[in-house]
Amino acid sequence: MADQQPVLEIRDLSVEYRTARGVVRAVDGISFSVPKGAILGLVGESGCGKTTVARSITGVLHQSARIAGGELLLHGRDLVSGPPKAWLDARWREISFVPQSAMNSLDPVYRIGSQIEEVLVHRGGKTRAEARARASALFEMVGLNPGRLDEYPHQFSGGMRQRVAIALALALNPSLVIADEPVTALDVIVQRQILDVIRDLQQRLSLSMILVTHDISVVAYLCDQVVVMYAGRVVESGSTREVLEQPRHPYTMGLTNAFPDLESAAHELVPIDGSPPDLSQPLVGCRFQPRCPFSLPVCSSDDPRTEVAETGARFACHRHAESDLLRRHSRDIATWQRPQ
Ligand SMILES: Nc1ncnc2c1ncn2[C@@H]1O[C@H](COP(=O)(O)OP(=O)(O)OP(=O)(O)O)[C@@H](O)[C@H]1O
Ligand SMILES: [Mg+2]
Repeated sequence: MADQQPVLEIRDLSVEYRTARGVVRAVDGISFSVPKGAILGLVGESGCGKTTVARSITGVLHQSARIAGGELLLHGRDLVSGPPKAWLDARWREISFVPQSAMNSLDPVYRIGSQIEEVLVHRGGKTRAEARARASALFEMVGLNPGRLDEYPHQFSGGMRQRVAIALALALNPSLVIADEPVTALDVIVQRQILDVIRDLQQRLSLSMILVTHDISVVAYLCDQVVVMYAGRVVESGSTREVLEQPRHPYTMGLTNAFPDLESAAHELVPIDGSPPDLSQPLVGCRFQPRCPFSLPVCSSDDPRTEVAETGARFACHRHAESDLLRRHSRDIATWQRPQ
């Protein structure tokens, strides 16, 4: 199914923000690939760098941010070292982005249809008539009635606006769509509908996707591959099945405990105590160590190496050889309850 060359390969990417507190290295040397025709879930707690990665790929970072190193290979060509125009040209046409809280990113004073047509005319070189026809087709594709193209964003529900954001992202037939938390602000029933729209479109259009989420149950429901981030690093990645059924990093073990299955809500939630480290400070050792119930002295002094399994799964934990044992302990709630 998957083509040899990935659609996107990220190599050793680092991104920094200049802030009043100093430089924040929000993404610190991450690598992963998006296979052709796959949905890859990028998952981790708030602040771990997911949006920064998504925006880096799209080339729409905040002005205080800079790519401090690494490569972003789109169909084998590096966007970071290539001419800026190539990156700009790739936006919408090759890589499109559904931003976090996309529902609110539509301009309230313009009709929805004209916002879609703008992209088609200005970025896609379509005539007004072609753009109108394409906007109707896109509306149908995401399950909206084209008769409502002339309405304003406030006349649409949150779920409908999210469908519009997806339609916009698909306007110019990109090969890679990056959706940042596409269902987070929606109630569970609408979440499920939007996830089904995404799955249906991805299959029909053979899209490659990066789906950013803090919700591991969304990954389980939709994604072929998963990349688990913690404090600006990738701690574990691989096929969703392998990573969720046999996590080898304690953070992933904690995440899989902390979220109920999308299908069955009957599951006790086990939160991971504590919070991620301050990324403006120098960090030594494993970044998860202060919260890890399995940490050893080496974890606070040495950075764990990233190991690669035969299956291609990657994980960075000093105790990876004992992961069967740790996994068994991780299922016990008491493991995660720290003495205060
Ligand atoms: N514009 C900015 N200026 C300074 N620091 C920033 C900026 N945007 C993000 N950061 C910092 O970069 C880190 C990663 O943020 P990012 O938004 O990428 O995380 P995230 O995983 O998407 O979180 P969330 O789940 O809350 O959306 C955080 O420490 C955040 O404070
Ligand atoms: Mg985010």
